[in-house]
Amino acid sequence: RPLVVAIDGPSGSGKSSVSKEVARRLHLAYLDTGAMYRALTWFCVTSGIDLSDAAAVEQAARDLVLDVSTTPLEEYVRVDGTDVTDAIREPVISAAVSAVATTLGARTELIRRQRALIEKHHRRMVVEGRDITTVVAPGAEVRMLLTASEEARLRRRGIQLGGTQNTEQLAAQVTLRDAKDSTVVNFTQAADGVVTLDSSELDFAKTVDAALVI
Ligand code: CDP
Repeated sequence: RPLVVAIDGPSGSGKSSVSKEVARRLHLAYLDTGAMYRALTWFCVTSGIDLSDAAAVEQAARDLVLDVSTTPLEEYVRVDGTDVTDAIREPVISAAVSAVATTLGARTELIRRQRALIEKHHRRMVVEGRDITTVVAPGAEVRMLLTASEEARLRRRGIQLGGTQNTEQLAAQVTLRDAKDSTVVNFTQAADGVVTLDSSELDFAKTVDAALVI
């Protein structure tokens, strides 16, 4: 029987680690949709595509030869056979990803692929991102918004407020990315029927336990 667990949330909400653990415990497949936006961004950046050219970014989304892990036991992302698992986490990609993710035509293409992957796994999958509960899989059996206070989110990203100029800069970058992302997807407030789980005061194990009883 189908069991799609849709988990949305902002940067540093603990979404990825919690989603993976939930998938492991429930023996479900797992999809990190953020990795797909990052992979497309990596492809655009390395191909020299102008990110402000919506038609070009949309075409790149269609051309993208992407192989992304669908198991929580192993993390990998390949573009045209090249392993980009680490490269897509580089600051240069994090800084550019919102420009790609706010290109609506590119979103349409990645959403299509995400839905196909859910079907391929017979609708037994944990899917995490920003628009899973609302757009990609609004019919998911479990829909959850993982939130945390700004302080907790930055702390998880290894960023201390009131720290050095460098950490202040990192904090500003994460906040800016969330602000840009929210112009196309609303992941700060739970949609109807979506359960909010605030992890500000919870450690990893407690957050997973709370997620599993939803
Ligand atoms: O690193 P972090 O957990 O903050 O983000 P991520 O899950 O790796 O996603 C990277 C970026 O992809 C986000 O900042 C969004 O721009 C975009 N994204 C999106 O637009 N929709 C999704 N469903 C997932 C990610």
